[in-house]
Amino acid sequence: MTSTKQGRPPRILSGIQPSGQLHIGNYLGALKQWVELQTQYDSFYCIVDLHAITVQQDPAALREGTRRNAGLYLACGLDPQHSTVFVQSHVPEHSELAWILGTFTPMGWLNRMTQFKDKTSKMQTESIGSGLYNYPILMAADILLYQADLVPVGDDQRQHLELTRDLAQRFNSIYGDTFTIPQTFTPKAGARVMGLDNPTAKMSKSESSDLHAINLLDTPDRIKKKMMRAVTDSGSEIRFSDLDERAGVNNLLTIYQAFTGESAEVIENHFVGKGYGDLKKAVAEVTVEGLRPIQERYQALTGEGGYIDEVLKRGAERAREVAHKTLRSVQERVGFLLP
Ligand code: TYM
Repeated sequence: MTSTKQGRPPRILSGIQPSGQLHIGNYLGALKQWVELQTQYDSFYCIVDLHAITVQQDPAALREGTRRNAGLYLACGLDPQHSTVFVQSHVPEHSELAWILGTFTPMGWLNRMTQFKDKTSKMQTESIGSGLYNYPILMAADILLYQADLVPVGDDQRQHLELTRDLAQRFNSIYGDTFTIPQTFTPKAGARVMGLDNPTAKMSKSESSDLHAINLLDTPDRIKKKMMRAVTDSGSEIRFSDLDERAGVNNLLTIYQAFTGESAEVIENHFVGKGYGDLKKAVAEVTVEGLRPIQERYQALTGEGGYIDEVLKRGAERAREVAHKTLRSVQERVGFLLP
């Protein structure tokens, strides 16, 4: 690990909501990168349950999803020796900093957030909680509490990261250097995995269609079935493309590339003379093989009673140490009388 100007190893923070099943978009866009980066950074990875409740959750399902996510983080390869894995609500500093940051966030900045517009476009106004609107402020608090240098995420989080940077800069310019300005990290392949049933829309946990997403815990049979029914087009050429009408084939090639790490040229050559059926079969195969070790580790981990809870307990303790220090300095700067 190299060190930053503060004389400590550079830090990462990222998180995933424990709402619904984790899918290959979450894995390729985020988790896989987290695992690859964890040895180079002091890494903090959280399960963001405070964010999840910005839309209504079933309490039992939320608890189960939180533990399942933790198990999957570890099964994907996060190592508690390198990564601090914790639950956001176990560290109350997140909510406290979010309140303070909210007082510095102009509504105009929040009004520009495309994810808020997308998420609420089909909701009744009365059912949109203000938490959903303020969601990006809590996300900024997550990141800034740990003075994160790098935030590995999928493409859809870029705008939230811009807002985080703007907020940190605004606070620093009023109160002096307080927060590290974080950089965004997105992978070359897999930053935006699209829905298998609708390849012009991002793969998402909240989509109800069974054919939409490949979940990390799907059986090999289900993975094959879903892949074979993925939407393609009426053409026959197997090439990467940014045209909307070729989005299905492009998405399958992107998934193949993210799992194999091969270059676009090698992949296109591999599929010369082959049909869409061959492509789907090949993508299903690399997906099944890519997820197999994760699923095996997950089964082993969940069999070890208490291990996941122990990791989360230690994670929250370590996270609180760091978070508390930042919150204290923020409280001091804004003029709170410290107890
Ligand atoms: P969430 O839970 O929607 O997604 C978690 C991570 O998965 C990435 N992702 C995707 N990547 C590629 N293709 C897709 N189809 C796809 N779908 C999701 C997301 O970009 C994300 O990296 N607001 C965040 C959670 C969050 C957070 C944070 C992230 C809360 N605090 C602090 C980073 C730092 C979210 O809802 O992600």
